[in-house]
Amino acid sequence: MSDLIQLVYSSRSNTEFDASAVGVPQEIARILSASRRNNKRSQIGGVLCYGDGCFFQCLEGERGSVEKLYQTIANDNRHRDVTLLLSRSVHHRQFRLWAMKYLSVDRPIRQFLAEQGLKRFDPFALDGEAVDRLLEILRSDTEEWRRPAGNAVPERSAPASMSGGISPAMLGIGALAAALTVVTLIALVIL
Ligand SMILES: Cc1cc2nc3c(=O)[nH]c(=O)nc-3n(C[C@H](O)[C@H](O)[C@H](O)COP(=O)(O)O)c2cc1C
Repeated sequence: MSDLIQLVYSSRSNTEFDASAVGVPQEIARILSASRRNNKRSQIGGVLCYGDGCFFQCLEGERGSVEKLYQTIANDNRHRDVTLLLSRSVHHRQFRLWAMKYLSVDRPIRQFLAEQGLKRFDPFALDGEAVDRLLEILRSDTEEWRRPAGNAVPERSAPASMSGGISPAMLGIGALAAALTVVTLIALVIL
């Protein structure tokens, strides 16, 4: 039987990014690209959040894979003070659809921080209950879908009709219009 776990840690970035700028800072985009490639392969999912110089990440998957990845991440010199906030067995994944969802610290999270009496994103200061509340906010925050620069790219690509391709319905209408034009031309020649 598989042992599904959820592991959450926080760390301090060795580079301070301007997370309020449009789009994802380049270094974070690189992390996300490696994460999505590797995590898909090892069936790990989760969320990464960055703000005010701190990372907060949740990893979900089979215990052995998650613990191995956590060791790799902890040794990454792009961040420091990697601190485990929780590691527990779970029955269900909270971030099912994501190899690695990304959110910068934005309005709903700022509101949560204010409720916690925090002026900055400081995940080290959160107790277990607050970590759970933050995970829930990150799970339900769909803001990234609306950002023009695609602050996070969902694992599943948009269907052709949404991404500028030609849908089968459009092809059908085109064929019908062409047929009508031919019939009209023939009728004009005959009459
Ligand atoms: C904050 C942070 C989060 C990361 N999260 C992941 C992750 O979820 N999955 C992953 O494979 N690598 C992650 N990495 C990158 C790893 O530390 C490591 O560079 C990467 O796994 C190497 O992948 P590669 O061998 O395919 O280049 C993260 C790095 C940082 C700094």
